[in-house]
Amino acid sequence: MAKRVVLAYSGGLDTSVAVRWMTEELKVEVIALAADVGQGGDWETIKARAMAAGAVDAIVVDLREEFANDFVAPALKANAKYEGKYPLISSLSRPVIVKHLVAAARTYGADAVGHGCTGKGNDQVRFEVSAAALAPDLEVLAPVRGWGLTREQSIDYAETWGIPITVTKSSPYSIDQNLWGRTIECGILEDPWEQPPEDVYELTTPTATEPTELIISFEQGLPVALDGRRLPLSNLIGEVDRLVGSYGWGRIDMVENRRVGIKSREIYECPGALALLMAHSDLEDLTLERDLAHEKARLEPRYADLVYDGMWFSPLKAALDAFVDESQRFVTGDVRLLCEVPGRCIVAGRRSDVGLYDYSLATYEAADRFRHQDAEGFVRLWGLGVATWAARQVNRPTGERPPAGAE
Ligand code: ARG
Repeated sequence: MAKRVVLAYSGGLDTSVAVRWMTEELKVEVIALAADVGQGGDWETIKARAMAAGAVDAIVVDLREEFANDFVAPALKANAKYEGKYPLISSLSRPVIVKHLVAAARTYGADAVGHGCTGKGNDQVRFEVSAAALAPDLEVLAPVRGWGLTREQSIDYAETWGIPITVTKSSPYSIDQNLWGRTIECGILEDPWEQPPEDVYELTTPTATEPTELIISFEQGLPVALDGRRLPLSNLIGEVDRLVGSYGWGRIDMVENRRVGIKSREIYECPGALALLMAHSDLEDLTLERDLAHEKARLEPRYADLVYDGMWFSPLKAALDAFVDESQRFVTGDVRLLCEVPGRCIVAGRRSDVGLYDYSLATYEAADRFRHQDAEGFVRLWGLGVATWAARQVNRPTGERPPAGAE
């Protein structure tokens, strides 16, 4: 039985009750670890709340740079979107949080890590599989999954123990947020037929009135500058997020397949992530050789599945990262985004010194250098097999079978 646990602490009702509940019921010392992955928050209040709930210590770790550079960046290079839509907002933050839970467990001599996930979600999978990969010797405690408390009972429990938590009944939504975006579930959204009310959105409220253009510069697959200003990735994401979000663009409404077998209705708002993914893959169109582009496109959904399914720390994921990194050597150049009211953001242009677009090959104007005479022989050989097959079909002695599709 574990004696000391480092708990991933959000400062919300569940993890606050979990601190006290684990102390009382499991007789463990709880160290609360709050991870700043760009969700914003009053960290001093959160720390104080953890201590008030009975934690023996509470720490806040600023993971914004690491999250952006080591978790978001590889996913961006891989154009990773689960089921072709969701840019893996929560899926990406869990592995970095686990990495730091494990590090803190070592520092504090803890023999367990803990999380506040329920049994119905994907996040428990990501926490536990990541923990198993990084620290198989540590126990994982998942109090919320086991305690069977309703929300009302949790509120009562917090009151009884004097845990200072302001539970506002007003927000019926379950929200997770980091610098790659915001996820919204529950409440009226549980009916997939219902249109999401405007109040679920925070990052994509339209306020802009005039169109604007922004230029995103990439080096080897990663955005490095916005309108010529070099910025650390986490800041660049934030700026693009605000800019593009102000046009009311960057929302996703989808029914997705959870790893645990449930279909769920999810709302995401992630203008920065979607704009950067769009720009990145557009620049790849210009800079990747055809076979490489096609093979990468085949692997991208697999990459997204692995991340979604909690396999961030896995050998296949590592091997795919190596492939993706190699593919990005020449993904360097600029992409021009145009934002317009209402709710529009498009790629308006792209350029690259190492791009494979060759004007003299592509043009229909006088500068054309394409060797037109090469085309005739090429096309004849390309179609030779089919032509041979078709001739056989038509000239059969019995003659009764026309070529497939030619009736
Ligand atoms: N469905 C998304 C995912 O699995 C979002 C999960 C949000 N998590 C949360 N605890 N609210 O990645």
